[in-house]
Amino acid sequence: MRESYLPFSLPLISEEAIAEVADSLRSGWITTGPKTKRFEDAFRDYVDSSHAIAVNSCTAGLHIALAALGVGPGDEVIVPTLTFCSTASVAVHLGARPVLVDVGEDFNVTPEAIQRAITKKTKAVIPVHFGGQACDLQAVYDVAAKHKLPVIEDAAHAVGAAYNGLMIGSDALQSSHADLQRVTAFSFYAIKNLTTGEGGMITTADDELAERMRLLSLHGMSRDAWKRYESAGSWYYEVVLPGYKCNMTDIQAAIGIHQLGRLDDFVRIRKNYAQMYDQAFSSMPEIEIPITQGGRSHAFHLYVIRLNLDQLAIDRAQFIEELRALNIGSSVHFIPVHLHPYYQESLGYSKGDFPVAERLFDAIISLPLYPKMTKNDLQDVVEAVRFIVSEHPRR
Ligand SMILES: Cc1ncc(COP(=O)(O)O)c(C=O)c1O
Repeated sequence: MRESYLPFSLPLISEEAIAEVADSLRSGWITTGPKTKRFEDAFRDYVDSSHAIAVNSCTAGLHIALAALGVGPGDEVIVPTLTFCSTASVAVHLGARPVLVDVGEDFNVTPEAIQRAITKKTKAVIPVHFGGQACDLQAVYDVAAKHKLPVIEDAAHAVGAAYNGLMIGSDALQSSHADLQRVTAFSFYAIKNLTTGEGGMITTADDELAERMRLLSLHGMSRDAWKRYESAGSWYYEVVLPGYKCNMTDIQAAIGIHQLGRLDDFVRIRKNYAQMYDQAFSSMPEIEIPITQGGRSHAFHLYVIRLNLDQLAIDRAQFIEELRALNIGSSVHFIPVHLHPYYQESLGYSKGDFPVAERLFDAIISLPLYPKMTKNDLQDVVEAVRFIVSEHPRR
């Protein structure tokens, strides 16, 4: 057994990033400013998008995207149930109803499920690129475009992922749907592929939508209001929308600039580790490795195994306890949204509504996968999984 606990995730922050944060702190410019602009420009170039707007979380990005699209009371927003709660709660915040749908065996929402859920009240679709693997994006765009619905991609896991050779967040992904309103929202939360502690970025090809989202991210104050304390800035501003307060700070952007510079390396290591896990587990009938789809470059934010519960004498929760006893951290992504009390009590969902997500939920474990861990750490995880499996065969 390992002597020390291997956390589920740890960030890898370079000395350059630390120096950049110190530089921000010393400069006196600690909120939104030139480094946020630099980070936005670099990110926009990285994913190849017309606009990139830095915000303080992916949740905030999803929220202001829906607000900018005018989603409000009486509207419906389609959301897969196998996601983090905030993909759905942002619709609730605006008085809209999140209409939950089931997912496929690869954990991603299916275009068919979206199609079936569309009603006259539908105002937007939020597909999630689960774990860092893009959903069937062209098919999702096709369904949305047919019904003239905007698509807000929850790309919390998908920075560094690609679909048909194009980065998630890129304008070119919608080249066959020029009129489609699309926003892609990324998360830079502590455990994400690129972190700023807390933070997020939204990209879009749509000039008007970008302008509205930028306004909404900072009180609805007229353009470049953040410059008002500079010598060349002006005290005068106008509030043109009742905006929110979800701008990114230069302290966060300082980390982000350096994380972005290393992102390709981070993703390469994640892919390599995922391959090592695949090799170790693919011969074990008790463990199913994640499904990878063609035409996509998986950013492996998560490595999610499925327990073959027919072959084991313990359930998923006990498996996680045994991993913990062997000093291995793990997690579950996700408790399906429709199983949470709020969604049952206030929105009428119940157990049994989404059989695929529920079956997956009972069997999934996210194993440690991050650039800061070593190959030896990974080997410890593999051995712990093998040991638990060998200790608990179903007879
Ligand atoms: C699928 C998904 N969507 C949205 C979020 C929210 O991201 P943030 O914490 O940046 O608001 C998360 C966070 O973990 C997530 O996993």
